[in-house]
Amino acid sequence: MEKLRVCLIGCGRAGMIHARSYMGGIHGAVLSALCDPMEENRIAASEETGVTKTCSDWHDVMKDPDIDAVIVVTPTQFHHDIVIAAAEAGKHVFCEKPMASTEQECDEMIEACRKYNVKLQLGFMRRFDKSFRRGKELLDAGTVGDVTMIKSNTYGPSEPKEWMYNVRKSYGPIGEVNSHDFDTLRWYAGSEVKMIHAIGHNFRSPEKAAEYPEYYDTCTVMLEFENGVLGMITGAQYVRYGYDSRAEILGTNGIIKVGSQNANAAEAVTANRIIQADSMDSWRTLFVDAYKAEDQAFVDCVLNNTEPPVTGVDGKMALVLVNEGLRSILEHRPIYLKNGIPEE
Ligand SMILES: NC(=O)c1ccc[n+]([C@@H]2O[C@H](COP(=O)([O-])OP(=O)(O)OC[C@H]3O[C@@H](n4cnc5c(N)ncnc54)[C@H](O)[C@@H]3O)[C@@H](O)[C@H]2O)c1
Repeated sequence: MEKLRVCLIGCGRAGMIHARSYMGGIHGAVLSALCDPMEENRIAASEETGVTKTCSDWHDVMKDPDIDAVIVVTPTQFHHDIVIAAAEAGKHVFCEKPMASTEQECDEMIEACRKYNVKLQLGFMRRFDKSFRRGKELLDAGTVGDVTMIKSNTYGPSEPKEWMYNVRKSYGPIGEVNSHDFDTLRWYAGSEVKMIHAIGHNFRSPEKAAEYPEYYDTCTVMLEFENGVLGMITGAQYVRYGYDSRAEILGTNGIIKVGSQNANAAEAVTANRIIQADSMDSWRTLFVDAYKAEDQAFVDCVLNNTEPPVTGVDGKMALVLVNEGLRSILEHRPIYLKNGIPEE
């Protein structure tokens, strides 16, 4: 194979981040086709990337022998069918998170990719972020001794869209902003979760409380891993001040701090003893290099026939934790898991 020929399926917000990675140069691959049923997005993507092979129906992508791999960045409800069809057509798959809507769908996607011998990589880009990776290297090197507790937070700035107030559809912040934190904690802990207990409250949209009594914009999630490590995730939506994603690993012999709210390394300290700095505006800015690195890692694993660095099982486990976290909030109780799967 000269170069991996990749088709982007879903040219929206996140899809175009991947498109731009490829346009910026991914070694060993070329973005060769675009698929999106929404004409406006498809044309805009084609004009921006210069890719002229486009289609509106993903079924056509599967019939095209000149496409070797797909990047699936459609709304989550379509991931399952597209990934399975791609596997059956022998096309390697990069799939954005959340992987699907249910555990069973995840299992079917994993099985199809195994059966048809295609790679399946999931879009947890924090694993490719320089700071998060450095945290993992320091942890693995034993720099702070044995890991005792891991904390991770994500707070997002934006006002929720109307559909997000129904948390049975949107999952609220635990799904919207914290799904990446669950993956980070599993990655850092090197173990599966055996207990999850989450609580949430609505602080910023009291006017929505009557119509959406289950809505919460802020949550804390307590976790215990099978290897004894303790975990804490906090999440919030509509914080206004910027996008804030940080982690902390407390060891028996020290602490590792990952990430910063500062958008750059510049700070002004003035005579009135005020420190001024720029806050990070968006996940798109913070993780732009990480998205590119994960796209490169996907192409490398296909070309070198190695295991994807983030697997379908990682996608499934994060989904389970989001589902069980929401269940814990709604039922006001801890949930117990065995081998990462709920016991009841
Ligand atoms: N890794 C991350 O941090 C991250 C960030 C944002 C979104 N996402 C995920 O990426 C996916 C897309 O989210 P988004 O924010 O880009 O959404 P979006 O609405 O901006 O874009 C989705 C695009 O998919 C297209 N589409 C809809 N149905 C399609 C179909 N059947 N076939 C092909 N294209 C179809 C839409 O027309 C649209 O252009 C979701 O699963 C989302 O959770 C991940």
